[in-house]
Amino acid sequence: MKALILSGGHGTRLRPLTYSQQKQLIPVANKPVLFYAIEDVIEAGVGEIGIILGPNKEQVIETVNSVDWDAEIEFIYQGEPKGLAHAILVAEEFLGNDEFVMYLGDNILRDGIVDHSEKFKNLDPDSLILLTEVEEPQRFGVADLDEKGRVKKLIEKPKVPPSNFALAGIYFFKPVILEACKSIKPSWRNELEITDAIQWLIDNGYRVEASIVEGWWKDTGKPEDILEANRLILDGITSKMEGEITDSKIMGRVIISEGTVIKNSTVKGPCIIGEGCEVVDSYIGPFTSIGSGCTVVGTEIEDSVVMDGSEIYNAGRIVESLIGKNVKIREMDMMPKGHRFIVGDNSEMTL
Ligand code: TTP
Repeated sequence: MKALILSGGHGTRLRPLTYSQQKQLIPVANKPVLFYAIEDVIEAGVGEIGIILGPNKEQVIETVNSVDWDAEIEFIYQGEPKGLAHAILVAEEFLGNDEFVMYLGDNILRDGIVDHSEKFKNLDPDSLILLTEVEEPQRFGVADLDEKGRVKKLIEKPKVPPSNFALAGIYFFKPVILEACKSIKPSWRNELEITDAIQWLIDNGYRVEASIVEGWWKDTGKPEDILEANRLILDGITSKMEGEITDSKIMGRVIISEGTVIKNSTVKGPCIIGEGCEVVDSYIGPFTSIGSGCTVVGTEIEDSVVMDGSEIYNAGRIVESLIGKNVKIREMDMMPKGHRFIVGDNSEMTL
């Protein structure tokens, strides 16, 4: 079986971060979201992975190639994001006549896909889609199942949902899905929708089975989703201490990476601090990820993600924040005092 991991799209809901960073590269617990998908498919025994690229293709290639993966990786440029079914068509040559798992590169699953992959092999359907129970099915693509648990119908954002089972972004397919993707027409938003392609399979007598996700599942499409995914991943970490700690208090499960210095500070887990950071006179609280090469001085940070190379000096208390790469936050040190901003388009600040 092959894998097709989607790392295209504009990620408009994650602006301004996605002006300069492809959304699947945003770190959760100091690891790009995309890496969780790659690890999951490799764990399920996939040896050939196609990665769909969009606007920021060079940075995705560079980031993926910085790791020595236990699989062959091919990059496939989609160009404009014209839908998930369009991404399959763009990958036609790579997919050939093989079965494959399609994994949205901004999704994270606690328990991976090994069990679902086994189910796909054992039931041998034309497609097996992962479903997850949600509280507000009106906001998702929802599956209507028959008494045997097979998929009868898929409905996008239904007003009256037939079930609480929403589509998680992981799908297993036999090659017939290519015919389905070629047979459908673009939707009202001018995208070739994967739900339409799967519905085509059902309507043409192909068998579509469902597999329910038991552990948590997170689509990291919005800022609050990144923070939630960060909490969920940090909740499962084990401590590792490689940095240098002086006159500081470390509590709970904490990862402090090589070359990092913690001085006169309190670090309360679960949290992770990357390589080569300096934390002085500060408090790093639960559910915080600090990337590599960051400096935090005289500041309290909790429940936040701070990306590589950022510097924060005497910034008071920071909570529930997403701070991009190489950001500088510091106290105004001259009169008159006031907030002074150089903030990009679509930024958000709560004072
Ligand atoms: P979405 O989150 O639906 O789309 P998006 O990334 O453009 O985000 P936004 O709505 O905030 O603008 O896409 C789901 C996943 O699939 C995501 O990982 C991006 C990827 N994708 C592609 O690779 N190609 C595509 O044509 C589309 C639509 C999405």
